[in-house]
Amino acid sequence: MNLWGGRFTGKTDEFFAYYNASFRFDRRLLQADLMACAVHAQGLGRAGVLQSSEVDTMVKGLRQIAIKYADSASLNDPKFFSAEDVHSFIEARLVESIGQTGYKLHTGRSRNDQVAVATRIFLRSEIDALDLLFRDVQVALIELAERYPNEALPGYTHLQKAQPILFAHFLMAYFQMLQRDRERLREVRKRVNVMPLGSGALAGTNFPVDREWMAEQLGFADVTHNSLDGVSDRDYQLEFVNVAAMTMMHLSRLAEDFILYASQEFGFIKLGDAISTGSSLMPQKKNPDSLELIRGKAARIFGHAVAFLTMIKGLPLAYNKDLQEDKEALFDTIDSLAGSLKVTATVLRNIEFNAARAAKAAISDYTNATDLADYLVRKGMEFRKAHDAIGKIVVYAIARGLELQQLSLAEYKQFTPLFEQDLFDAISLEACLTGKNTTGGTAPEQVQREIKRAKELLNA
Ligand code: ARG
Repeated sequence: MNLWGGRFTGKTDEFFAYYNASFRFDRRLLQADLMACAVHAQGLGRAGVLQSSEVDTMVKGLRQIAIKYADSASLNDPKFFSAEDVHSFIEARLVESIGQTGYKLHTGRSRNDQVAVATRIFLRSEIDALDLLFRDVQVALIELAERYPNEALPGYTHLQKAQPILFAHFLMAYFQMLQRDRERLREVRKRVNVMPLGSGALAGTNFPVDREWMAEQLGFADVTHNSLDGVSDRDYQLEFVNVAAMTMMHLSRLAEDFILYASQEFGFIKLGDAISTGSSLMPQKKNPDSLELIRGKAARIFGHAVAFLTMIKGLPLAYNKDLQEDKEALFDTIDSLAGSLKVTATVLRNIEFNAARAAKAAISDYTNATDLADYLVRKGMEFRKAHDAIGKIVVYAIARGLELQQLSLAEYKQFTPLFEQDLFDAISLEACLTGKNTTGGTAPEQVQREIKRAKELLNA
């Protein structure tokens, strides 16, 4: 029986019943909902609405349901899919198990505050699990950076070679991005961790439940302070999905960098067999599908972020059934983000860096031109004039098919007498790297310092 039959004389259209039902996906909230149900029952007991024996029976019954369906696969049985949603499923199982007393559980409560509290409990624990997955990617970044502490890589702007950097520096850039995403996620958790139970359908409840006590039992830091808001906003989910979107954007950039670097044209990294796939036709192929899927899944999450905004923007207060659409988007966001974090960590642990090739690329195509301009500045020339002079030298070198380090001192002297033999030391790969020795720069000393700081952050 459904939860609202009394007012109806006609039957629900069969396909509409299916369309309306959410158990086939919201069963994922079962354990979270059961937790809230037990505390609600206790809250009713404390308010004198239920006798303590009734509360005991209910709590025991709810615990049995939790145990019986602890393996979520047990909910896959299509016979359950006639349940309208996870909330009616719980009431039906409770009545089966403890009899008529089960029908008292919904006293002073609506599915509107019930679903809001269950999604918050659920999301809170998912955020905690995700936090560990974030951390593991950060650990994998540090591990890889430490495997290649002094190895160079060309740095790019506009995907044009710019200046030499350390491969470790490149990796640690992603550490920083993920650190901020992780902080944002923790920030979201604070706003998820607020309890709407006791908001009723929209106006509050006639029964004097101690909401603060219930919140404490469920580990919430606060209660919602407006019942309309408590049942009808989903900004705590929207915020989460947006942090997920931002994280996926970062993972997608990392994926894109690695896809490029693994291509024959760049050839800076080799992807291990564990994270690559082959072609059904071309026997020689090894494709970076792991990374391409991360890049692809980012698009899905961006879609969910827009879906959330659009779903809520036109809803008159308070609850509207549109809000049932939050779940599949939320679950898919969690799963896609968790999966992408896991695969990213695995990719990082299955990469070989071609240090020789990357170093050669890092110090060719005039990536040391800026260092040569800085050399002239140290010899007393104004930077703008030095920039111009080196620009002309680059044109001269290109015409002869030579790198800056291959020109002779005599050739340099034609441009300005400020050049001395020491210019060659100033534009070596090593000098280009060690020179960038301010906080956050690519000098090995600075990168080591930041790796150390990163480890401290992870262990804090
Ligand atoms: N399945 C519903 C949802 O996810 C639960 C709340 C239903 N409330 C209602 N008044 N129909 O939003």
